[in-house]
Parts: sequence; C-alpha cells; structure tokens
Amino acid sequence: MKIAIILGTRPEIIKMSPIIRECKKRGLDYFVIHTGQHYSYNLDRIFFQELKLPQPRYNLNVGSGSHAEETGKMLIKIENVLVKEKPNITLVQGDTNTVLAGALVASKLHIKIGHVEAGLRSYDRKMPEEINRVLTDHISDYLFAPTKYAESTLLGEGISKEKIFVTGNTIVDAVNQNLELAKKMNILNKLNLKKKGYFLVTAHRQENVDVKERLSNVLKGLDLVHREFGLPLVYPIHPRTKKRIREFRLKVPNCVRLIEPVGFLEFLQLEANAKLVLTDSGGVEEETCILRVPCVTLRDSIDRPETLDVGSNFLAGVNPEKILDGVKNMITKRKWVNPFGDGKSGKRIIDIVCQENSE
Ligand code: UD1
Ligand code: UDP
Repeated sequence: MKIAIILGTRPEIIKMSPIIRECKKRGLDYFVIHTGQHYSYNLDRIFFQELKLPQPRYNLNVGSGSHAEETGKMLIKIENVLVKEKPNITLVQGDTNTVLAGALVASKLHIKIGHVEAGLRSYDRKMPEEINRVLTDHISDYLFAPTKYAESTLLGEGISKEKIFVTGNTIVDAVNQNLELAKKMNILNKLNLKKKGYFLVTAHRQENVDVKERLSNVLKGLDLVHREFGLPLVYPIHPRTKKRIREFRLKVPNCVRLIEPVGFLEFLQLEANAKLVLTDSGGVEEETCILRVPCVTLRDSIDRPETLDVGSNFLAGVNPEKILDGVKNMITKRKWVNPFGDGKSGKRIIDIVCQENSE
C-alpha cells in the first residue's frame, strides 16, 4: 500500500505532522506532495524544521494567485505526480485550495481519498473554505471526523456511515507532542511580556481582511479592549493582512504590537500564556480550547461549534463593541472539557488506512 499526503499551507503542515510521524514510525510506503500554496519561510519551512518532518518528495511551487489560478495550477501539477506515483490512497487535511485540488485529482484518477478533519461547516458559502470542504467531503472515501458533531453533520448530508470515522482532531496530537518544547522557547522574554499580561491576536480570513470596513472594525475592537484592560496586544500578522493594511492605508493602534508570524513552538508559548486570545483562525480556536485559554472569535459564523458548547469561545463577529463584550464575557473563564480528542488521532487514522487497504 502506498500513501500520498498532500499539503500546502501552515495549518496543514501542523495538522498533518502527527500523521507523517506515524507513517514514518511504521515504515510505511508514503510520500508528501507540497503544493507550495504557502512558501514564505515563516509560513512553511520553519514548521518542517521545528516539527522535524522529512522534506516533501515533490514541491509544486504553485505560489499565490486568485482561487482559480492557485487551484488550476495545482490540479495540473498534482495530476502529473499521482499518475507517476500511483498511490492507493491520498490524504488531505482541512479546507484550503490545496485540499480541494488534491481531492479532485485523486477522485478523477480513481485513487481513494481520506479527508482529515471532515464534516466541519460554517454554512456560509461565501467562505472559500466552505466550498472546499463540502466538495472534498462528498468525493472522499474515508471521512475522518474530529468529533461526533462533525459525524452527525456528514450523516445529515447523506454521506454513508461506513465511510465516516470519528478520530479526534490531529491538532491535539500536535499540541501534546510539542508543548514541552514550546515551554523552553524564549518569546515571552524576547517581547518583554509577562504571563497572563497580554492578549494574543491573529486575523487573516479573506472575509475579514479583504474588506476595508471589517478590517478597520477589528483594529477598532482591539483598541477598545486595550482601553478597558490596559494590556498590550501581540499580533503575529499573516502576510495577507499585512498587505491589506498597507493597501487600505489603515492605522494600527499603538497598543497593538505587530510581529512577523512565528513558528509553532513560539506560537504555542504565546497562546498558552495569554490572558485571552482574539482570532479568526480555526486552528487557534481549537488550540485555545485544548490549552484552556479563553478565546473570542472575530467571525460571523462558526465551524467549531464544539468550542461554544464547552464554553471556551465567544463568537463576536467584528463589531468593536461586540468584540469588547466578548472579552469581558470570557476573560475569567478557564474550565471546560476538551472536545477534540485524546491526542491519538494520527495513530487512529493510520490504523484505519492500513486496515482498510490491506490486501
Ligand atoms: C489560506 C487558506 C485559508 C487558511 C490559510 C492559513 C484557501 C482558500 N485559504 O489562506 O483557509 O486559513 O491559508 O494561513 O486555501 N502569502 C505570502 N506568503 C506565503 C503565502 C501567502 O506572502 O507563503 C500572501 C500572498 O500575498 C497571498 C496571500 O498571502 O496572495 C494569501 O495567500 P493564500 O494562500 O492565497 O491564502 P491565505 O490567506 O494564506
Ligand atoms: N500559527 C503559528 N504561528 C503564527 C500563527 C499561527 O504557528 O504566527 C499556527 C497556530 O498554532 C495554528 C495554525 O498556525 O496551529 C493556524 O493556522 P492559520 O490561522 O493560518 O489557519 P487556519 O487554522 O485558520 O486555517
């Protein structure tokens, strides 16, 4: 049995790392295709180094572009590789353009598809991620749902139960495998931050940062939070957001400390010690829930409703007053149960792949 693992962006490298480690440990015949959707050092190579991942066998160097440009180039280049390598199964993770391209090529070549993190929905079809994951789920052969809730969503869409496996989310594995190393990082000292003495911010989603008014509202919300609590806000800024702030000529409030994106270990240290995290990132909503740090989500819809159910997260949108309300509401909360699994998802997924594909 030969396994192709396709990835292309920061969160996919992080969330695929437990699966890659498991394949390596078992000596399986596997290889990695990196589409090159992310390519800047601090969105890409830093994670291979920190997580000690083998270099991808193929880097397709697709780079940035419109949705059609990115996806179209990936389709052509992934097809070349899969035709040559003839894997029995292709694994994709999440909801990026890389995921849709990988799944679409595999389905046309009649190669089985395993979708890691299947069954997430925001029910907002304007999000590119929603289209990518709905289409990928419906052409996948193995749907690795992180929670029972995600499984019930898939069943509700008519996907047959035999294809769905509730495995937990591999982000729990990734956090557990790296938390001790993260504690040894020096980023708090480097930025002169005290434990629980700052807020951590990330925002990069297309629907937030590509719309001037919404991005401006996020910045106003951060300013309000600073006025109320007097703590600094640290914001490792995604290149998409950096570009838009410049383009829209927005002023970043002085209380917000913009820094370049950091590696996973430094980010985990920043997250684990923050007073609270404000974000529009799916992965960060999950990690704060796992690390027991309160989270305020800067989005109108949610695809991780489990975090609302357990009480780790507040869905604020981008209205500045609502962002402040969210922070006031969440700031003292810390006790909840992690709904994303036991940290053995990578092992479980590879067990299923091996079982189902043994001759
Ligand atoms: C993509 C995913 C999003 C995911 C995010 C993770 C899609 C549709 N979106 O969004 O779901 O949450 O990755 O971070 O797949 N850029 C760089 N260096 C890079 C990569 C991008 O400077 O290494 C800049 C370019 O200006 C590019 C912009 O960021 O145009 C957006 O990159 P892109 O990969 O298209 O989308 P993301 O916003 O990163
Ligand atoms: N992350 C990181 N450095 C940063 C910001 C985020 O390592 O400066 C990690 C974070 O720990 C999480 C992942 O990147 O695991 C989230 O990726 P992102 O927010 O880009 O994508 P999303 O999860 O929204 O798809």
